[in-house]
Amino acid sequence: MNIIVLNGSPKGEMSVTMQYVRYLESAFPQHAFTQLHIAQRGRALERDHEAFSAVIEQIRQADVVLWAFPLYYMLVHGNYKRFIEMIWERDVTSAFKHKYTASLSTSIHYYDHTAHTYIQAISDDLGMHYTGAYSAEMRDLFEEDKRDALVAFATRLLDATERHTQTAPRFASLHPRSFDYIPAETISPVATRGKKVIILTDAEPHQANLNHMVARLQRAFGDGAETINLHNVDIKGGCLGCLHCGYDNECAYEGKDEFIDMHRQRLQTADILIFAGAIRDRYLSATWKTFFDRSFFKTHTPGFVGKQIGWIVSGPLSQIQNLYEILEAWTQLERANLLGIVTDEFGDATAIDGLLDDLAARSVRYALEGTVAPQTFLAIGGTKIFRDSVWGSLRTVFRADHLAYKRMGTYDFPQRDLRTRALNALTGVLLQIPAIRNVFVSRIKEGMVQPYRKLLDKLQTQAAE
Ligand SMILES: Cc1cc2nc3c(=O)[nH]c(=O)nc-3n(C[C@H](O)[C@H](O)[C@H](O)COP(=O)(O)O)c2cc1C
Repeated sequence: MNIIVLNGSPKGEMSVTMQYVRYLESAFPQHAFTQLHIAQRGRALERDHEAFSAVIEQIRQADVVLWAFPLYYMLVHGNYKRFIEMIWERDVTSAFKHKYTASLSTSIHYYDHTAHTYIQAISDDLGMHYTGAYSAEMRDLFEEDKRDALVAFATRLLDATERHTQTAPRFASLHPRSFDYIPAETISPVATRGKKVIILTDAEPHQANLNHMVARLQRAFGDGAETINLHNVDIKGGCLGCLHCGYDNECAYEGKDEFIDMHRQRLQTADILIFAGAIRDRYLSATWKTFFDRSFFKTHTPGFVGKQIGWIVSGPLSQIQNLYEILEAWTQLERANLLGIVTDEFGDATAIDGLLDDLAARSVRYALEGTVAPQTFLAIGGTKIFRDSVWGSLRTVFRADHLAYKRMGTYDFPQRDLRTRALNALTGVLLQIPAIRNVFVSRIKEGMVQPYRKLLDKLQTQAAE
């Protein structure tokens, strides 16, 4: 069979992911694999219409299409995202329709599920037969059982293709509502009280609702907010994946375009950041994706600690829970406070005005109070993956993270907690005695609540004094 591999790594052949593909090539010598380096070709593929058509023709002739990509900021690389957008923009979806497909990624398993969910949704939207995902930790290829699992994944894809097995879509089509948001003229602006507010958007002139929401929010801040449009920032290209930044957060693009200065001097010095974009397929635009990818010069260290972050999204966000999760998780992982996400999906113009005004008012109030809501599993789990990786296998490359994690107390392993370790050792022995275990179990509930009662009593006494 003729298998087209759509390579999502900006490193082309020098990609870890492509080593997994090479392994599959050797495991299935009876099939022909062709790697197309989509993300590496980036904007060239966009400019060169003939080259784009040649890629699409190869896909049209293929029996199988394999999406093979590294994880980039919880999704795929911005250039890969742009390629996906062009499939619809240039009306070539028919080349993908009814093809059997699957997704293969390499990563450190940090939000790998959101990337695969995205690709599965895209495959469903293209009318493809999606047979499954294989998410490899970068070094899995060195383990025999993982190689066997990889072969089993590919076997399922190839078998399904040969036998034309049924596959079921997982995602219903999106139904954006048709609604023109026209904000009211009247407004009672909030005073920014010395807090620096930046609205960052990729709004294009034809995106009326997004532009109106941004303008309304700008007015809600009494024009105390600066709006930056990503299209007006000189961004020479997407992340190269070169890891130049790992040692000291210096990006290979340093001094070559405006991205890093914008990030460091304008975004990182703001107190309140509002990000505004429109849904494009199952995510925001590729421009937004490139924004995230390029922020990787901060590597795995949060850059917006303690800031107030809000989102404005035009389009059917409630139908894309995957994107909602990404936005929420990213904000939490930055250790920022998520103010909320305002969309134009529900309610009339008055309701949307109200939501935007409230976003502005709360952002200033929380910025003054220094409010940051507790993280959930989204960030707590993610941080632990980073912590373990930077402590271990990533430390040599990501020295800057290692130093930052030491400084920020991210290395919170309980290694030196000798008291707990001694207690665990003792109770481990004692609880093997049934009589002691029975008494212990009968007192668990009481024992759990007791310290809280003590604390509340103490706080009450303090408050009364
Ligand atoms: C800018 C950037 C963003 C990344 N984002 C993620 C991520 O969100 N989750 C993850 O697990 N790994 C992430 N990684 C790690 C890569 O996915 C991983 O190293 C992958 O194996 C690289 O594959 P490649 O050599 O094929 O490009 C990121 C790496 C870079 C450079």
